[in-house]
Amino acid sequence: MIPALVLSRGVHMTQHRPDSILIIDFGSQYTHLITKQLRKLGFFTTTIAPHQPLPPQDIEVRGIILSGGPNSVHTEDAPSLPSWVIPLNKPILGICYGMQLLVNHFGGQFSSGDKREFGPSSMRWDVSEAQHLPAELELASQVWMSHCDHLDQLPTSFTTWGTTTNGVIAAISHTTQPILGVQFHPEVEHSLSGKALLEAFATHTCKLSSATYFDSLAEQIGTKIRNQVGPQGHVLMAVSGGVDSTVSAVLLARALGRERVSCVMVDHGMMRAGEVTEVKNYFTELGVGLEVLDRHNLFFEQLAGVSDPEQKRKIIGQGFITCFEEWATGIQHSNPYTHLGQGTLYSDVIESAGAGHGAHTIKSHHNVGGLPEKLQLQLVEPLRQLFKDEVRQLGHQLKVPRKLLDRHPFPGPGLGIRVVGEVSPSKVAMLQQADKIFIDSLKREDLYHTVWQAGAILLPVQSVGVMGDQRTYEWTCVLRAVSATDAMTASVVEFPAGFLTQVASKIVNSVAGINRVLYDITSKPPATIEWE
Ligand code: XMP
Repeated sequence: MIPALVLSRGVHMTQHRPDSILIIDFGSQYTHLITKQLRKLGFFTTTIAPHQPLPPQDIEVRGIILSGGPNSVHTEDAPSLPSWVIPLNKPILGICYGMQLLVNHFGGQFSSGDKREFGPSSMRWDVSEAQHLPAELELASQVWMSHCDHLDQLPTSFTTWGTTTNGVIAAISHTTQPILGVQFHPEVEHSLSGKALLEAFATHTCKLSSATYFDSLAEQIGTKIRNQVGPQGHVLMAVSGGVDSTVSAVLLARALGRERVSCVMVDHGMMRAGEVTEVKNYFTELGVGLEVLDRHNLFFEQLAGVSDPEQKRKIIGQGFITCFEEWATGIQHSNPYTHLGQGTLYSDVIESAGAGHGAHTIKSHHNVGGLPEKLQLQLVEPLRQLFKDEVRQLGHQLKVPRKLLDRHPFPGPGLGIRVVGEVSPSKVAMLQQADKIFIDSLKREDLYHTVWQAGAILLPVQSVGVMGDQRTYEWTCVLRAVSATDAMTASVVEFPAGFLTQVASKIVNSVAGINRVLYDITSKPPATIEWE
């Protein structure tokens, strides 16, 4: 039990601007890796799109990284170097396209090659030529190149400190200012010393200390939230019971005060057994509070007679929209909402929209199934810059109970997509019992935390069985358990001998309506984790 204390401390925090490396994203598929590498090293980073007219005001920019990108500086409409970057007088590292922009700005020349160089290259280093890098920095020769333009003429104010064994100039440095450029990607693993180079840029060139990144992360996010929501804003926080929305809710309540954050969870009737009560209790324990909208009837009515998986997903998504709309516009609130809170992660941003940070408008998002623009709410996404492992770490620091942080992922449509075919309250109830037996057994045998995700599925298949002296003709249940790191791929969990047969026996003996249990032994791909 913490949190009332934690919450009030957050509300009165002083608003200082955190030291940050600013990454300007020119569209490289690797930009998020620059973030990830620097974060792993303990540095705070902020990523913005190149068209922002000013540097972000809520951070202290200590250095700037210009990312790579798919364009050539010669391409019409290619993004240009923001006019405020050089006058800001901060250390700069240009990577690939970023380096080309620097060369262009300082009067050097690139020519467009017809051959794209993509893959590992060998470098010859002369680090002593690199101004503003430590002379003792030792770099391995292998780097990862991805470019087709070649540097023909170095600007007069620059020197070279690295060329490929093919003679391509691949590392340059301004002779007096702390400005560096590299024609390879230090952020990818194949650049063997890339991490060392990024670390040297952060510590030596930008003079940053890595120790404080995580210590002050919650505070930094709090400042951002307060700046975005303003002194009068009121947030409707969409909660699913998962890690991301829970940590987001705690951060919002810390930053704004509990009275300006309304956490709302839609109970569509297809959650796991006891899940809604459990989540509600967790939120009480966290000192945040949670409103649960019981909308079983709405969802089951809409789903009656529907067995197509996509149609079921659409109906459930639309159900979420209807519930949030009703809640946001309902007469029960004296304080109109200004913002919608979501647990969007950096990986969601990469997958859906690229990392560029323009003005936020309401967008379709899998956590709530896409909210309509007429809600007129601005999105506030406290975790938008973070990866899942960082969210777990942050949640731990915020004293969110471990049992909550380490829960298996669970899909928004819930058991609705684990009852294969038509969904009915009785089938969901049957599946809830089987699922609970499986999950409780995993916990009891200390297997729960060794598995990425586990659950039961109910098939629309009946088969003949015998119980006592009776013939049965009942439903089939499938158990699924997978190992994964990001759910893009998954492998089947091999349990200790006897575990699955015990679970199967318990299910068949205690869940009326199920007389057969199978184990899904298909990896992803070719199967997916969920059956629908
Ligand atoms: P699939 O079935 O695509 O699932 O292999 C990959 C991961 O995503 C989860 N999942 C969802 N999560 N809303 C969510 O919030 C959804 O509609 C949804 N569908 C799948 C799934 O549980 C697994 O972790």
